[in-house]
Amino acid sequence: MTIDSNPIARDSSLAWWRDAVIYQVYPRSWADGNGDGIGDLPGITARLPYLRDLGVDAIWISPFYVSPMADAGYDVANYKDIDPLFGSLADADALIVSAKDLGLRVLIDLVPNHTSDEHEWFQAALAAGPGSRERNRYLFRDGQGTDGDEPPNNWDSVFGGGVWERITEADGTPGQWYMHIFDVKQPDLNWENPEVHEMFRSVLRFWLDRGVDGFRVDVAHGMVKAAGLPDVDASTTFNFEGRPVPTNSHPMWDQDGVHEIYQDWRRVLEEYNTNGDPATDRILCAEAWVEPMDRLGRYVRSDQMHQSFNFPYLDAPWRAADLQEVITDSLRIFGDVGAPASWVLSNHDVIRHASRLGYPVGEERPIGIGADDSQPNAIVGLRRARAATALMLALPGSAYIYQGEELGLPEHTAVPDDLRQDPMWERTGHTSRGRDGCRIPMPWVGGEPAYGFGTAEGTDTWLPMPEIYGALAVDRQEGVADSTLEMYRTFLRLRREHQLGSAHLTWVEGYGNDVLALRLSHRDMADDVVVLTNFAVEALELPAGATVLASSHRLPGTALPQDTTVWITD
Ligand code: GLC
Ligand code: CA
Repeated sequence: MTIDSNPIARDSSLAWWRDAVIYQVYPRSWADGNGDGIGDLPGITARLPYLRDLGVDAIWISPFYVSPMADAGYDVANYKDIDPLFGSLADADALIVSAKDLGLRVLIDLVPNHTSDEHEWFQAALAAGPGSRERNRYLFRDGQGTDGDEPPNNWDSVFGGGVWERITEADGTPGQWYMHIFDVKQPDLNWENPEVHEMFRSVLRFWLDRGVDGFRVDVAHGMVKAAGLPDVDASTTFNFEGRPVPTNSHPMWDQDGVHEIYQDWRRVLEEYNTNGDPATDRILCAEAWVEPMDRLGRYVRSDQMHQSFNFPYLDAPWRAADLQEVITDSLRIFGDVGAPASWVLSNHDVIRHASRLGYPVGEERPIGIGADDSQPNAIVGLRRARAATALMLALPGSAYIYQGEELGLPEHTAVPDDLRQDPMWERTGHTSRGRDGCRIPMPWVGGEPAYGFGTAEGTDTWLPMPEIYGALAVDRQEGVADSTLEMYRTFLRLRREHQLGSAHLTWVEGYGNDVLALRLSHRDMADDVVVLTNFAVEALELPAGATVLASSHRLPGTALPQDTTVWITD
């Protein structure tokens, strides 16, 4: 079967973002420049050459704004300044300049669904009283019941509990309720209010003027709620456990009104494009946990966002048929609207794929693992993770890498419960362990305190690092032939050399149900690259005359063992 995967991407005037590999930096946990146990912007800047050497095109930095850190910075109190924990605006400017010098583009995180309750707008809304202009920037409602002491509707928060919090009015009486689809410290903005639109246009410009190349847009499917905020059936909830019911049937998600916002933002970004030169494109990428997948394509129509995360791909079970289906659907759905497909296996909200794939195939994905939960098989997990990455990096379009996956880092599956930071743990009444296990600081130097994450001896890192991270530190893998780090470098280099990000994908028949076989052809390249992933227990004999470019594990002779991906030319 042939699918014309990415017709626009095959054009030689390819825009940089159509095949970019983008590395997610979670600033609290990447590099600590001042030794206080929390990562920061000077730490990131100092380590940027590592990313140039890794071979990525861009970085996306999770929020670094002023924040009380109730949700690790996804609760923003001031969108136009840096939290002192991370540094200063001057540090952000220096980071952007250094990245550009190294040939790396910079995307930042935009959090438009909610502010922090410590944002000046929310504080003004509390003070101003019902019906005021200040309250109308958020979703305040009167309660139900005779005393207004019942919440306005029955929606559940993503982090557990309900979405409504009742306030005390300035005169001390029990007051209105406000909506927070995440933590109680993250009040949702009212996107029906033009003032909110104006504020975010100015935030976009503030950062575009400072030179950022684009934005990852947080909760892009949640900003507009259905009119009247109607009650829902208990069965239509959604959270990071994934696999919700079709999200547009829930009045909190994927409402059509969000698309007007992105059309507006696209116009703002295009003001920054110079003479139609795609090298000057600034981009938007949607974080939209939307099902079914066809709905995702709507976010990347040519007048809206440039990319959307492909969470159906992240969620797909480790099986040839499931992966073939989601890859085929992705190329079709994104291709139909002229957008590049994107691919992602890990981020700061999900179990790291080196651990996730260590559970039996098809099992539901948990949100966080505790010491007494069933543990993933680390050997199987890492083996599959490497094979999965080698497959992902061959796919046409853009790929996202989450910090530390290039070291094969597993989830920290035994963070002591009293050290947990994710608000999910408390809000779910200690039933969901939350996302701390994928947010552990990066190990840079195996023999140093905190494995080289910080500078000072004896400082605790903000989340504890498991001992196994020492052996996986960057310095332990650099130059080591079969290490995960060198594997990433090799595949990233080959992906670039063979222009796979803008190649044309066809499925190769004849390998049976337990093998994924795809051919990538590029009109400017003499040789096709054939990619094989073997899911079967039995090893697969490579085709006669094949030349191996690289494999996710060292091959014993000419056979491809189970859970291994190889790139060959034939
Ligand atoms: C997004 C972020 C997540 C955050 C949530 C609320 O899903 O990725 O980390 O908790 O939005 O801002
Ligand atoms: Ca620090």
